[in-house]
Amino acid sequence: MAKYEIIGGTPLSGEVTISGAKNAAVAILPAALLVAGKCRVENVPDISDVRILLDILQDMGAQVEWEAPGVVRLDCTQITKTTPNPVLVRKMRASYYLMGALLSRFGEANVALPGGCNFASRPIDQHIKGFRALGADVEETEDYVNLAAGEDGLCGSRISLDVVSVGATVNIIMAATLLPGQTVIENAAKEPHIVDLANFLNTMGARISGAGTDTVKIRGVERLHGGSYAIIPDQIEAGTYLAAVAAAGGNVLVKNVIPKHMECITSKLQEMGAKVINYDDCIRIRSEGRLRNTTVKTRPYPGFPTDMQAQICVCMALADGVSRLTENVYETRFFGYCTELQDMGAEILVNGKTAIVTGTEKLHGTEVCAHDLRAGAALIIAGLVAEGKTTVRNVHFVERGYENIIEKFTALGARITRTDD
Ligand code: EPU
Repeated sequence: MAKYEIIGGTPLSGEVTISGAKNAAVAILPAALLVAGKCRVENVPDISDVRILLDILQDMGAQVEWEAPGVVRLDCTQITKTTPNPVLVRKMRASYYLMGALLSRFGEANVALPGGCNFASRPIDQHIKGFRALGADVEETEDYVNLAAGEDGLCGSRISLDVVSVGATVNIIMAATLLPGQTVIENAAKEPHIVDLANFLNTMGARISGAGTDTVKIRGVERLHGGSYAIIPDQIEAGTYLAAVAAAGGNVLVKNVIPKHMECITSKLQEMGAKVINYDDCIRIRSEGRLRNTTVKTRPYPGFPTDMQAQICVCMALADGVSRLTENVYETRFFGYCTELQDMGAEILVNGKTAIVTGTEKLHGTEVCAHDLRAGAALIIAGLVAEGKTTVRNVHFVERGYENIIEKFTALGARITRTDD
């Protein structure tokens, strides 16, 4: 188990380049299973979730090669299994995308239930509802989901999601890509990585329209061909560095971003008093004194992302006045980090799905534990601000989703080191 040690109190300055989006990569790599041909994917972040997925694909018969840093070549022509290695599958959340991709290409899949960050109950009933609507027989056991084409075969259909779900939208898009007929997903999620997945599949010959709106249409095609595609920059990684500068102070150019994707985050940081300047593909953030209090309610895109809840909470903990932070996607997400921030001196009162955060001028370093990916990111930001030394344990959660985080923060002047316990 690795840990990070952070000596706080240094403002951040310089430039940081954002990696490819984790949540796009973990959808696009399994989507390569739909392609009987060679795919070249650029801007792939080298993070543990991606490594696990590539191991799963390789174990299933895919040819996988890192051509260069950030560039992966994949050939899923000769897939030999529709039961991916359960030990690997249980190591991460997005392995559930193997269900949709395998069902579409092979008409069957037997996938262990996924693992990953457990900050809330994370049901997959909407994914299953989608597969059933497409004609699959679905058998759920305690550990596995078995999918097979039903008596009448698999075919496009109309599905209205009961909740806006990123995972279900992605999984149904994949499942429908190679089926006869048209599939319509109503009440679809609109996150940038859903558009990215649709763009990847369309580059390979799929016919998907409406991604990024709440109605996505998929006209099934018989096969996809190989091709080359570059993943979009990571909205949440960029948001994490922006929040770090807002909290710790300084002046940083955040490069390789799509400013439009960042509006839900940058508008809040501006409201809190940080100076934000948007350029074509980068954002400068400069702190201008103490942050002001604010109100944040997490929502699916284009709302404020739940994946930035913990990081903005650190900004609130240091702001002048009382802030309100309401979580509308995963109610229990506060429990991953609020106690740890309280141990560092933050004043946070959690009442159901709202946290009341009373800003304090200082946090102090201590030993804390990351309980999930974004909670870990928030504790690092708190450590950068805190007086003295902060030790963040369980950082394997952080390394699931942040590429080269030590190198990137160090280049900005942070004093942060990684050691193995
Ligand atoms: N939900 C259901 N039934 C379902 C699916 C979802 O009730 O079948 C509910 C969930 O319980 C939740 C809401 O719908 O309340 C939204 O869940 P969603 O399906 O959108 O989440 P997800 O696909 O499991 C992805 C990201 C998460 C991110 C959420 C919300 C990936 C691999 N994961 O999860 O990312 O928090 O969307 O934006 O894309 C992270 O990166 O740290 C992370 C956890």
